[in-house]
Amino acid sequence: MRRIRTITAMALLVTLFLIFFYSTLHLETTYSHKAGPEDVLRRPRLPVHSDGDVKTQSSKQESDAAPHPVVHNVSVSDSFRQIISQNRAYWNRLLYSALRNLNKRGNTVSNSNWSRCRETNQELLQTNVHDFTSYPVLFQDFLQVMNCRSPPVLINQPDKCVSTKGDNHTVLLFAIKSTPGNFERRQAVRETWGQEGVYQGGLRVHTLFLLGSSQLDDPNLNPLLAFEARRFGDLLQWDFHESLLNLTLKMNMFLQWTLRRCPHVSFVFSGDDDVFVNTPALLSYLQSLEPSKASKLYVGHVISTANPLRDPKSKYYIPLSFYDGPYPAYAGGGGFLISGALLQPLYSVSHVIPFFPIDDVYTGMCTNAMGVSPEAHAGFQTFDVKEQDRENLCVHKDLILIHQRSPQQVKKLWRGIHSPLLSC
Ligand SMILES: *[C@@H]1O[C@H](CO)[C@@H](O)[C@H](O)[C@H]1NC(C)=O
Ligand SMILES: *[C@@H]1O[C@H](CO)[C@@H](O)[C@H](O)[C@H]1NC(C)=O
Ligand SMILES: *[C@@H]1O[C@H](CO)[C@@H](O)[C@H](O)[C@H]1NC(C)=O
Repeated sequence: MRRIRTITAMALLVTLFLIFFYSTLHLETTYSHKAGPEDVLRRPRLPVHSDGDVKTQSSKQESDAAPHPVVHNVSVSDSFRQIISQNRAYWNRLLYSALRNLNKRGNTVSNSNWSRCRETNQELLQTNVHDFTSYPVLFQDFLQVMNCRSPPVLINQPDKCVSTKGDNHTVLLFAIKSTPGNFERRQAVRETWGQEGVYQGGLRVHTLFLLGSSQLDDPNLNPLLAFEARRFGDLLQWDFHESLLNLTLKMNMFLQWTLRRCPHVSFVFSGDDDVFVNTPALLSYLQSLEPSKASKLYVGHVISTANPLRDPKSKYYIPLSFYDGPYPAYAGGGGFLISGALLQPLYSVSHVIPFFPIDDVYTGMCTNAMGVSPEAHAGFQTFDVKEQDRENLCVHKDLILIHQRSPQQVKKLWRGIHSPLLSC
């Protein structure tokens, strides 16, 4: 009896010792990872836990590792002030109040506490928008969070732009707006136009899919996303609800991410996950640019004379008491190109210009305020090509972007334009 007790006690001791020993080892590796700026660059991808909970301690460390981009001195062009008039609509009033403060104090939108900014805005809204309660529910939601700009990062790719072999920097970054459930579309993009790697001429291309979080009633896709992020290393996810009206926030978070993690990228392609991109044509277009143009590029399918849609049933409905005036020219959000050199000024000016619920219009507003106009390029077909040309590979061969194609069509087109038998 006594001997058994002694043996049990010894076994316990050994186990305890082993646990202790193991945990010190673990601590050591954790701490040794903290040091050195180069180490930050080479840090392994965010460990995504197998239970799908990716909001780990280390994700917090990751996001603290690189400094937040600063908001530089912002000036706003006269043409922007001319297009957007000073009137009684809520957004217009917010803008002009920000512009008045601009001359006094610099930037105006503070990165308010994410978990609290919603409530603070709610009180303001009731008094400031007389018909707020008649707005569609989603629009009310947008107004309540329009000052909230710091959602937690759920899935990160901190070393996406750190190349492993050689030091060729990232020439093109595909930033593709996706939603958690669109696995099939993402896979089609990965297998075709969004393939990462070094293309002809040594041009390095990277791809990222930008995600928000699912709604409460949606099935929980987190374990699948965690797997996908580990397997492909191309997901970025933030903890805000996926919604059309949250795309401006998504774009802004991507800008912030790029300035921290991929600051030297030459060009960004921002687009939807259901478009077809002719990557070789896109790259040769980029290579053909004069340096002066390459540094100020904002090109796509330009919508130059648009007005807000006032039908409450429209997807893009904008109430008159919210925004009054036309839109500045903008490049359609289905897919456009922008120079890396414009990202910092764009991010800076976005701290003065209040968020607008339509993301591509918002980008157009910001670039207009910067004094940059969108350039039209016939190769960007965000409204698709003529009906009779939709199967015509020769038409597609010369285009850069076509909206909108199914994953199967994307694969077929990709194979088609690369076929050695194609003679046009
Ligand atoms: C944000 O607000 C929450 C809830 O009120 C609070 O617990 C948290 O400490 C705040 N965070 C910061 C950084 O102020
Ligand atoms: C870097 O780019 C050059 C051309 O500029 C190319 O020859 C070379 O293969 C590239 N290196 C890598 C590692 O991608
Ligand atoms: C945008 O995301 C926030 C944060 O998750 C959410 O509260 C809000 O309802 C979303 N907006 C819309 C229009 O769904």
